[in-house]
Amino acid sequence: MFGKRASQPGQAPASPMPAAPKPAPVPVLAARPAPTAARSAPVAPANPGETPRNDDYYVTKAMIFSALIEAIDLSQLSRLDPESAREEIRDIVNEIISIKNFVMSIAEQEDLLDDICNDVLGFGPLEPLLARDDIADIMVNGCNKTYIEVGGKIQLTNVRFKDNAQLMNICQRIVSQVGRRVDEASPICDARLLDGSRVNVIAPPLAIDGPTLTIRKFRKEKLTLDQLVKYGSISPEGAEILKVIGRVRCNVVISGGTGSGKTTLLNCLTNYIDEDERVITCEDAAELQLQQPHVVRLETRPPSLEGTGAISMRDLVKNCLRMRPERIIVGEVRGPEAFDLLQAMNTGHDGSMGTLHANSPREALSRVESMITMGGFSLPARTIREMLVSSIDVIVQAARLRDGSRRITHITEVMGLEGDVITTQDLFIYDIVGEDAQGKLVGRHRSTGIGRPRFWDRARYYGEEKRLAAALDAAEFGERPAGA
Ligand SMILES: Nc1ncnc2c1ncn2[C@@H]1O[C@H](COP(=O)(O)OP(=O)(O)O)[C@@H](O)[C@H]1O
Ligand SMILES: [Mg+2]
Repeated sequence: MFGKRASQPGQAPASPMPAAPKPAPVPVLAARPAPTAARSAPVAPANPGETPRNDDYYVTKAMIFSALIEAIDLSQLSRLDPESAREEIRDIVNEIISIKNFVMSIAEQEDLLDDICNDVLGFGPLEPLLARDDIADIMVNGCNKTYIEVGGKIQLTNVRFKDNAQLMNICQRIVSQVGRRVDEASPICDARLLDGSRVNVIAPPLAIDGPTLTIRKFRKEKLTLDQLVKYGSISPEGAEILKVIGRVRCNVVISGGTGSGKTTLLNCLTNYIDEDERVITCEDAAELQLQQPHVVRLETRPPSLEGTGAISMRDLVKNCLRMRPERIIVGEVRGPEAFDLLQAMNTGHDGSMGTLHANSPREALSRVESMITMGGFSLPARTIREMLVSSIDVIVQAARLRDGSRRITHITEVMGLEGDVITTQDLFIYDIVGEDAQGKLVGRHRSTGIGRPRFWDRARYYGEEKRLAAALDAAEFGERPAGA
């Protein structure tokens, strides 16, 4: 079924259309009604002006497509640059339309042309979504349902694939760009688009309702702390505190759920690292964009098709230690590398940072503990906790709230051990006060009144104590609602 390996990079997909019999002139597309009720009705159009396509459209497209395939040499086409290839396809399709007497408006013809070009040269129906900058994630659940996340909210789109075979072809084409393969034998695959977007594919039989594709779109223009302030994710005073934390080499863990903005926040914090520091970043897929001159970027490697040659995050972090880093930045801590990162934090690599998946600062600490325990280090719990306390200075919690907004909800310090319990202190928090008429949550950021955080001396050492004190003071008395 979908296990065809016919499509190579740059080559056309195995035609997603069944070969159509020689068509008689068919007047279709003259009016394109809304999709029948039987089909899942999209709740929101993917793009204003994008028309949902009905079955007639696909029939016409299939006919034109097969005529096109007969008329052109696809391997020749793949040698052209994308612009000329597109021109070539346009000419031929226009010719087919006029020879075969398809009746359609200019706008419909343009739409069809784009659609066919996207199929032959790009990622088919995904292209319009990939071209949009406002989308954070694209989620394809089988051929009939594609969701996107815009502005923190998930919405269904009109995007459909002809069938699961076409979708599988596109998945295959995406992953083959990075020399990987996805089929029944290896149905799970991570890859990256040329623009840096992260892609995960899971195919049948594991995905029951058809190939499932998830794309975290790469955002070239990374958000800055000032923009986060503008969006109400953090108050100006909170942002000041974070700038001080980034500069004065606190060891920081950024905690949050999927898509809560952890990586974005980490990237923001790295902006405040001094230019003369040697920074090494370790990531699964390079997302961070540090502006400093002295940065070494490392990336893990998945196993080859034969299952060999994998380089794990732990391998990278361990190797880092031999590279004379001043700071180590780990994109996402998920496993035993937590141990090595804590050790690095503990042994003079102050200002190291990492993100991890947890819903509160407290949970973040227990996550690190369990990552170390499950990593096979047979250390007593107390020893691990001592290590945690002496290495992590600050936990910054990011959250995506139920109204879709992203907020920094805690800046929390790790204080010490009392008995077997790690004590923490919140410096700065976000309180939800209520909800407005549009269902948007109303809340405010405030400091908790702590005047001398544990990293005070550190701040003083870097000459940042005045700035820190001012921000903490202002946050305590600034009673203005955030996000307004
Ligand atoms: N504070 C924010 N306000 C609005 N959008 C944000 C904010 N933080 C992150 N984003 C966007 O949300 C998406 C997910 O962010 P990311 O940092 O990759 O999340 P995570 O690393 O937690 O999975 C990105 O598209 C990013 O641009
Ligand atoms: Mg991330």
